[in-house]
Amino acid sequence: MADGFLKYGYDVKIGSRDISKLKEWKSKAGAKGSAGSFSEAALFGEIIVLAVKGGAVMEALKLAGENNLNGKTLIDATNPIDDKVPENGVLRYFTNLDESLMEQLQKAFPKAKFVKAFNSVGNPMMVNPDYKGIKPSMFICGNDESAKGEVKHILDQFGWETEDMGKAEAARAIEPLCMLWCIPGFLRNEWTHAFKLLKM
Ligand SMILES: NC(=O)c1ccc[n+]([C@@H]2O[C@H](COP(=O)([O-])OP(=O)(O)OC[C@H]3O[C@@H](n4cnc5c(N)ncnc54)[C@H](OP(=O)(O)O)[C@@H]3O)[C@@H](O)[C@H]2O)c1
Repeated sequence: MADGFLKYGYDVKIGSRDISKLKEWKSKAGAKGSAGSFSEAALFGEIIVLAVKGGAVMEALKLAGENNLNGKTLIDATNPIDDKVPENGVLRYFTNLDESLMEQLQKAFPKAKFVKAFNSVGNPMMVNPDYKGIKPSMFICGNDESAKGEVKHILDQFGWETEDMGKAEAARAIEPLCMLWCIPGFLRNEWTHAFKLLKM
């Protein structure tokens, strides 16, 4: 995703607890790409992409610093994947169907504008995937309409059709799409598909 943002002229700072692993990326990214701590990246970003291990998201956001998140659009690409092994290709989640990870995050950081997106497709397909002229669907949700508008603009640039599923509660349905997306991968080593919502 960082490369995708660079492609469209955005400045990008990747946050990590260990920026030494980003040396190679930084040298390829050029002047518009940089790396820093989670708090430096969160302070820098006008729009923030949350892409950390599901079980560590709260910790990562605390490291990012609530003041650096307040009022900003936060694209939440995370999934509440448990450490237990998948069962017949089906991932285990540490959440339940009555409360998603994103709702927990939205409650913990009420002034950040969370938008669920990019959680149910593999990273090689996130930016301008080639499905022979067919635009895949990205299901999004979140409580702030203007934040969703910003994410839709990015999805337009990245070659996706945006399917807005409403408020934060819809993440209860969008997060499990990652389970579905991963099944062909675990069972048949197929990792290049994307979802498409067909309409009449
Ligand atoms: N990979 C994909 O294609 C893909 C696609 C869609 C959605 N997602 C979602 O995106 C998220 C990231 O996935 P991933 O594939 O990059 O691998 P991952 O192993 O789930 O996450 C790696 C990231 O998590 C951070 N992290 C791990 N433990 C941490 C802790 N204790 N405190 C703070 N940060 C911690 C790491 O930060 P450091 O750099 O500091 O180590 C690193 O940035 C996941 O929620 C995943 O479900 C991934």
